Amino acid sequence: MDALEAEKFLRLYYTENPSAGDLWRRLRQVTSEIATTGTYTHTADELAYGARVAWRNSNRCIGRLYWKSLRVRDRRQVDGAEGVAVECVEHLREATGDGRIRPTITVFAPDRPGRPGPRIWNGQLIRYAGYRGADGDVVAGDPGNADLTDKARRLGWFGGRGTHFDVLPLVIEAQGKPPLLASVPGDAVLEVPIAHPSYPWFAELGLRWHAVPVISNMCLEVGGVCYPCAPFNGWYMGTEIGARNLADTDRYNCLPVVAERLGLDTSHDRTLWKDRALVEVNVAVLHSFEQAGVTITDHHTEARRFISHLEREERSGRTCPADWTWIVPPMSSSTTPVFHRYYEDTQLSPAFVQHPRKSYYDW
Ligand code: ARG
Repeated sequence: MDALEAEKFLRLYYTENPSAGDLWRRLRQVTSEIATTGTYTHTADELAYGARVAWRNSNRCIGRLYWKSLRVRDRRQVDGAEGVAVECVEHLREATGDGRIRPTITVFAPDRPGRPGPRIWNGQLIRYAGYRGADGDVVAGDPGNADLTDKARRLGWFGGRGTHFDVLPLVIEAQGKPPLLASVPGDAVLEVPIAHPSYPWFAELGLRWHAVPVISNMCLEVGGVCYPCAPFNGWYMGTEIGARNLADTDRYNCLPVVAERLGLDTSHDRTLWKDRALVEVNVAVLHSFEQAGVTITDHHTEARRFISHLEREERSGRTCPADWTWIVPPMSSSTTPVFHRYYEDTQLSPAFVQHPRKSYYDW
């Protein structure tokens, strides 16, 4: 435990929350707690603030305007795999609601000296399996999750039906025990079938996506304390699904079939068939989520919001660090205001970080 990190965070917390009370008293407490236990315990308010600022400090996230509204589920008392599974499902239900997505984080037990907190192997709480054929190529599902699918199978998962959209079980490692496989109940997984407002054939492609992206393999770092299990979600921006998940050649690779159905000439790149198909896929994604009553934003709106966020941060006397390569949307980039400028890309703390895996299991 780095006492300096603790002090830096507490100073930030007390500066930005003037009504919180006496910094010096808290610093003395924390220093002595670190000296005797090797770590310290955040108050519920410190934790909630730390989680919100970690979002504010996420250089890759274009959706940070609403950082203050993050709902924080304090589940630090939960350190066993079963408990984590139950609370993850509850997180999904609360964050999904009836389609009005609520940005939410659930924070489980932190790492303590000699006692690591739980960990989730899945990159997100909802991930579609990717099945390999005999030659190792993915023949069904999301190739992006083929490795995780292999691991789940080695651990004894036989649940998949072999479709393109089978939800993987959660793989949760805790208390030095073998990982637990926990299936996510279907009624906790809201999905949206993708249809197009003007092409009836589009629905026949059978494309769909889940409503809520809940990142589950990043560590929340607050004032020197690591919370390795702290799944968090916002809502989707359409291009994440339409221009990446469904379109990337190493994901669902749907552009060739969409272009064919549109009757485009795919014999040369310069007919721009990929670009034209891409637009229609993204129209379909936004249309379908809206029809289903599920929160989603388009990249134009979200880019404008990001610029307001940036200006608001600067008015508050802070800089807003950002990573251009992630902030700029993957389509029509130059039509959005975030394209036409540069950003400082410094990493502030608290933060969400991806640790090299410290695991009991070498997977
Ligand atoms: N890009 C990821 C996905 O398509 C989700 C990342 C987080 N996105 C968000 N809108 N909070 O699943």
